[in-house]
Order: sequence, then structure tokens, then C-alpha cells
Amino acid sequence: MAETTGDEAVETMTEAEAVTELAALAKTLAKANDAYHTDDAPVISDAEYDRLKRRNAAIEARFPGLKRADSPSDQVGAAPAEAFGKIKHAIRMLSLGNAFDEGDVRDFDARIKRFLDLPESTNLAYTVEPKIDGLSLSLRYEKGRLAHAATRGDGAIGEEVTANARTISDIPATLTNAPDVLEVRGEVYMSHADFASLNATQADAGGKVFANPRNAAAGSLRQLDATITAARPLRFFAYAWGELSAPLADTQWDALARLKALGFSTNPETRRLEGPDALVARHAEISAIRAELGYDIDGVVYKIDDLALQARLGFRSTTPRWAIAHKFPAETAWTRLLGIDIQVGRTGALSPVARLEPVTVGGVVVSNATLHNEDYIAGRASDGSVIRGGADLRLGDRVEIYRAGDVIPKVRDIDLTARPEGTEPFAFPDICPECASPATREPGESVRRCTGGLICPAQRVARLKHLVSRGAFDVDGLGDKEVERFHDLGWVARPADIFTLEARHGTGLQTVANLEGWGETSAANLFAGIRAARRQPLGRVLFGLGIRHLGEVAGRDLARHYGDWSAFVAAVDAALPAAAAHRAAEAAAAVERAAAAADGRRARLAEARSPPWADIPAEAKAAWDDIVGIDGIGATLALAICDALLPGQERDAIDALMAELEIEAPEVVATASPVSGKVVVFTGTLEKMTRAEAKARAEALGAKVSGSVSGKTDILVAGPGAGSKAVKAAELGVETLDEDGWLALIGDV
Ligand code: IVH
Repeated sequence: MAETTGDEAVETMTEAEAVTELAALAKTLAKANDAYHTDDAPVISDAEYDRLKRRNAAIEARFPGLKRADSPSDQVGAAPAEAFGKIKHAIRMLSLGNAFDEGDVRDFDARIKRFLDLPESTNLAYTVEPKIDGLSLSLRYEKGRLAHAATRGDGAIGEEVTANARTISDIPATLTNAPDVLEVRGEVYMSHADFASLNATQADAGGKVFANPRNAAAGSLRQLDATITAARPLRFFAYAWGELSAPLADTQWDALARLKALGFSTNPETRRLEGPDALVARHAEISAIRAELGYDIDGVVYKIDDLALQARLGFRSTTPRWAIAHKFPAETAWTRLLGIDIQVGRTGALSPVARLEPVTVGGVVVSNATLHNEDYIAGRASDGSVIRGGADLRLGDRVEIYRAGDVIPKVRDIDLTARPEGTEPFAFPDICPECASPATREPGESVRRCTGGLICPAQRVARLKHLVSRGAFDVDGLGDKEVERFHDLGWVARPADIFTLEARHGTGLQTVANLEGWGETSAANLFAGIRAARRQPLGRVLFGLGIRHLGEVAGRDLARHYGDWSAFVAAVDAALPAAAAHRAAEAAAAVERAAAAADGRRARLAEARSPPWADIPAEAKAAWDDIVGIDGIGATLALAICDALLPGQERDAIDALMAELEIEAPEVVATASPVSGKVVVFTGTLEKMTRAEAKARAEALGAKVSGSVSGKTDILVAGPGAGSKAVKAAELGVETLDEDGWLALIGDV
């Protein structure tokens, strides 16, 4: 492994060294490809894979004559996963928020009571279920027959694995007395004993040995040949459901009993308990019997028992408010820090990654860990406080690694007594390792960023990857690897280039179809995928731009607020002077803070001084207020948007992309509701529900909740004590309702 991760400069490498390293890289990358695509057991992280690919390309570029017949540069590696059919889940498969300690659990319980406006002393009932460490599966039964089975995929669309699921004995093929439509959800897993004997058999037969039971379960379920799955000892616990034509029960506890009565396995360690003390106590009990369970669990899940309360609590964008996973403490191991790589991300952030002597942490081989930023390496947290007793990280250090659940491994501690002689503190680069542009730190920020923008190849590629990714344009046939390939060939640099690729490289000599690993059919599929991706909802377009802080939810919120691209861009253009004033005020405050700190005075928590609005045109201020008035969009995001759209090269690239697209008006969430598409403002005291619940409920019905009354407001819901907002609504002639009027309107009374 050592020679494949070498970091001697390519420029000074001898030909003999290049031959050896190219051979090693070909071997390592081929292994990594196999592990990733066919075995469900990645042996190296994506980042490390990318780094090795880049290094291989760099060596080949310097010694073109040494390029191997089996060069990794020529391998596209179509994932066999493509061969599975896709299934859109009738109801999204979500994940769970995490609690790591008792405090988090108490916060979770308190949050629920606040949301529901229940007295703090209430002891809410929860089910407490082991969190099975396998992979989730959704089983759709129609009229009692298993119609299809799908993996979670990205939550919205999963892979169809019906034939495979039918081979699992815990999964009934038919049900009696079940609702006509019943989607049962649960976890496919493998017991420790079955995992050990499967690995023994595999080893004897010279087959693949799995790293842990979860990988073995995933690899066994995701087999194109269901007879292979049938030969693997998979099991299934049911713990949730998706679409239902009739309710299963009134409580989670009874619903689990119903699933059991229908013939599913449910986890025998499940309990129904009241109040956070009991939850935490059960977590401790389960933790104590964890090793004897015979299968892997990575925590305990608490779910509000009463399904009516679950419905009231609803969901955040990807997790329910009514459940949480209380994880077991992280697993740790000691190893050696071999190197520190700097990766440059989509927004230019320089992220240091530790290269480690490979070590097993909780069943997984770890050879990389995140180091966050330069302060973290130096032994400081982002607020300036000391971490690890202030010890900085140096190459050769013995370090303690930890990982909790699926999170990226981190460095927890250093053993300074084992530090080799003559080490130096790590010099964090102040120029971008990818494009040599200056890498700078904004005052008050812990992250150093490359200022190269689209000049920087790393930022360019990362932005292109983001643009075509699932949550954004979701271009069929165009994944990370293809983006890199086209970028390396110089065929695609700016987002708009994706949409002109067919015109430029669809015919002639330098065509996509002529590339190694491609052909007429795959090229035609790619171009069809790209053509289809020209039509996009505004929210996805905004998200796809890859602007800092602008996530999928904010993309949708902005789309709903502005309705179309030209309105959005006109508003941002109008707000630019206000953004500049804001930025200047923030910078002045940061300088003041730094000066105070340097003076030895106690740095005050200086609030950003309000910008000198007097100097700014009224339209700019109005446009700025309009953006930051959108619920969930703060000044930070508004500034990032304004920065991204400043006139210049980057803006030109955005405009060029827009010229290629056909942007759809934002989708209205629930058309049937009397308030869908309406802008609603809540003010004053609500008596029947909390503000948070009212907001969540309104949004679930397709309304847009805003924090301030303006000409765009459709309804003001005013409780007792409503003040200036009610006055403004009256002035503007906005429809004003009291709480009962609102509930009557949305049909809640
Ligand atoms: S409930 C809407 N219950 O954990 C919530 N999930 O981190 C649906 N898991 O994707 C999940 N045991 O794969 C639930 N008793 C349990 C679970 C469980 C394991 C998995 C599941 C889920 C993941 C979330």
C-alpha cells in the first residue's frame, strides 16, 4: 500500500519510480473499484480514491509513454447497481436524528413537549427499540401479496430487490387480514454466527470475505442473481411502515404487535416506557446486553408511542420530530498519522485529511480521518479554545481515532510521549494546492478558502459534480466519474458546457461514443439524460448552483418566494449595494474584535453593527429586506447569494447556464389545501398549538410561512397580543384571521 500512496513530487520522480508507482496504482484502484461496485465493501474513501486517480493521471501526464494498457484513467466502471430497477417510494424513507448522550435525549423530549405545548412535567410514552445495524428495506403488499421490495436508495427512489426479498424467510410472501395497501419497513441484517460461517465458506471457496455483518447483508441483498441471495442467511426485523390503506393501530407499540401478528419478526427487546429517565435507563441496559444479542446494533431508537402525536409532530426535511436514535459511544483505536492531504471543495474550502496507517475501528478499516481545518491541526477549536490540551498534530504522531455510527472518522487525541524526534508543526498552505491561487481566511472564519473560483480545477470539478448530483439536476448517466473524465479531457469546464457537450462532441472524431468504455448506446443514453435535465424546477436550479449555505430546502423556499429565475435574479441584483454595506459593516466589526483581542482587552461579543443604510438606495434596502425576510433565509445565506451573483466571470458562467435551461415554476406542495401557495404570517399568542407546530402544519399544507407582513402576505393569523404586524396587515388590506378562524380554514376544527 505504501508505494501507492506516495507523496513524492511527480515533477522530480524518476522513470523507474513512475513505473513502480503506476503499477501499484493500477492494482490498488482496480481493487478499490471491485470492492466498491461489486462487493459493497469500500476499502478506501471516495476522497482517497479520487486522490489516487489524480495522482495516476499526473504521473501519466509527465510520462505519457509509461501509460499502462490497464490504466485506471481509462476505466469508467459502470456500477452494476445500474442494473437494478428503480422504485419511487410512495412515502419517502427518512433517516433519524441522533442523540449522543443523556443531555441530547432530554433535549429531544423537552423539544417535543415545547412543540406540543405540553407541561414540562408530562411523562410522554415512547417505544424503545434497538437500532439494528443493517440496511433498510420497504416491502409493499397489495391485497395481501408482496408486490415489490425496494432498498432505501436516496430516500425518494430505491433499488428494486423483490426477487431477493422473497428469498428471506422472515419476509412473508402473503399476508392475511392486512390492509389492501401495506408498506412494511424494517432492517435486513445478518447475525454474528451466520456472518462468521458465511465468511468461512467464502474464504474456503476463495470468494470474497466481508468486513462486517452489515456489508455482508448489503452485499447479499443487492445481488442481481437472486439465487445467490437465497443462499445467504439474511433476516429481517419490521419496525415501521410507509403507505397504508387503513391504520395499523393507534400506537407504535400496538402497530408493532399488529406487524408481528401478520407474520413479521419484530425485535423482542422493544419496550414501551414513559419519560426520559426510563429511556436513558433502557439505553444503558441494552448497551450492557449488546454483545449477547447475536447481531449488530448501533444504538437505541426512541419513538413517540401515540401515533396521533407522531402525526402532529411531523417531519423536518429528512428526519421525523417524533423519533431519535440514541447512538452508542464512538469506537476508538490508536494508529499513526502518515500524512496530511489538503482537499479543495466546491466552495474552495481547503479541507485537511489525515492519512493514517490503516487500523480497524469497530469492524471497519480506517485509513483516512477528517482534520476539519488548520486550527484543528494546531490544537484549537473554531472558537479559539484549546483542544487536546493544545497539542498540535505532526506527521508521525500516534493518534487516537474515533468513529460513531456512520460518521467520518475523527482524530480524538495524541500520545505526545510517542512523538518522533525532530518533528515540525504542520505548515498549512496559504496557496491552493490545486491552482496556486491565494488561499485566504475571512476574519472570524476557521476555514481557509481558495480564491481561484472557476480558475481552480478542483472547485470546477466539484461544482460540476454537485450540479449533476441527485438533489440537484440529477442527470442520468452523468456521475462523478464521467464528470471528471470530461473535465480532464477539457470537454466540460463550466456548467453550461454540459448542455453543449452533444453539439460539440456528439459527432465527428472526438466523440463521447469513441471514448474507451463508451459506445454509441451509452453516448446516446448520456445525451438523452442531459437533454431531459434541461428542464428543471427553479428550486433545484438554485440548489444546483452550489452556492455556499444554499441547500435543497432553501432552494425550494427561494423558488416559492420569487416564482421564476428573472424575478430572483432581479431581486438579488437590486440588493447588491445593501449586501456590500452589510459585508463592510461585518468586516469593520471583525477588525474591531481582532484589535480588542490584540490589545489584551476582553474581546466583546461584538454584534455586527447595523449597516449604514442611510447611504443605500431605498430599493436596495427593500430588496435586501425581502430576501432576509423569507423564513429560514438569514443574512449569511443572503450574502453568499449576493457574492455568487456579483458581476464577473462566475456570474457569466451562471448566465450561460441559464441560457441552456428551461426552468419550471416551483411546484406547489399540496394543491388540495385551501392555503397551498399562500403566504401566511403568524403573530401574537397562539393558544391551541405552539408557533412551531402552526408553522409546520401550514407548510405541510403547502403554505409559505413568512416572518414579516408585506404586500405579498395573503393571510395574517393574529392571536392575542398581536402588535405592529396586525397594524401593517390592516394598512395593506391583508386578510386577518384569529386562531379559530385559521383552524376552521384548514379544516382542523
Ligand atoms: S425508524 C422515520 N427504527 O436506522 C424513521 N429505524 O438512522 C424511520 N434503523 O434508516 C426509521 N433500527 O435503516 C427505525 N428500530 C428502528 C431501526 C431503524 C434500525 C435504521 C433504519 C433507518 C436508520 C436511521
